[in-house]
Amino acid sequence: NYQENMPATEIAKITTDNPWYILGAGAMGCLWASYLTLAGLPVVLITRNKRNGNAINLTKANHSQSITIKQITLGELKPSTLTIKHLLVTTKAQQTISALSDIKPHIDNDAILFILQNGMAGKHIANLLPTQQLITGITTDGAYRTDELSVVHAGTGETLLGDKSIIDCLPKNHLAIKFCDDIDNKQWQKLAINCAINGLTAIYQCRNGELLENEEALSRIKLLCNEITAVMHALGLSVHQSIFDQTLHTLTITADNYSSMYQDCQQQQSTEIDFINGYLCSEAQRLNINCPENQRVLAAIKQIEQSYAQ
Ligand code: PAF
Repeated sequence: NYQENMPATEIAKITTDNPWYILGAGAMGCLWASYLTLAGLPVVLITRNKRNGNAINLTKANHSQSITIKQITLGELKPSTLTIKHLLVTTKAQQTISALSDIKPHIDNDAILFILQNGMAGKHIANLLPTQQLITGITTDGAYRTDELSVVHAGTGETLLGDKSIIDCLPKNHLAIKFCDDIDNKQWQKLAINCAINGLTAIYQCRNGELLENEEALSRIKLLCNEITAVMHALGLSVHQSIFDQTLHTLTITADNYSSMYQDCQQQQSTEIDFINGYLCSEAQRLNINCPENQRVLAAIKQIEQSYAQ
């Protein structure tokens, strides 16, 4: 394992003067802001608009607690001289580049950017912020918001990191966080699971676990997984455990969760489809592989997005 011997990146200590800034105050952003705070690590949540209060209500397994979190709006950030050294990016894939461009002047040249999101938008960040250190994280935790300041941790998964240097600056007693020496492969596996689950939960308008009880959805999941596996094989990626089995496992452990795409469609917001099934389909096209079921899901979600305006 060559990365075990790699020197970990030097990272500045997290202090109240150099806190974790979190960009993207959706379900994942609120969840991480809560757990970082509970772990005693200073956090500032960057929000677009001023919120009604500074406490996040975190619910897990029917137990709720209120956690006070410092927040700053983009409007307050812009005129300030504030420098960001640690940034956790939890924006939706489709909002990442515009959100990062907004705060770019404040991001230190040596900043650590920890990217925790679905889909393959991370690849574009390196062009926007070439000197900063990007660390990819992948999570199977399921979370949803019930209002602007209330988040439910509905599915306990795990978070894998491509660099171990920040592990001690993360809430590892509250979330299952592990170093992974094969993060690119894992990112593809996560993409595969999102391709197989997210679109269908939005189409059938159900919680993740309900897909397991829906025969039509299950046979579509099988087709999606076969197509994704063919693309992964063509890319030379190793698939140790079948994508279908991994999908069933994720559906089981996040059964109560509403997927992020289901939530976006319910709130009539744009979805991450272009960075999930859209990305898969463009890779498949490049490799001359047919992916009709992924195309079907892509087209159905595009149609749902178009219906908002009407
Ligand atoms: O996007 C999501 O909602 C999550 O990645 C997952 C793992 C599908 C759980 O809902």
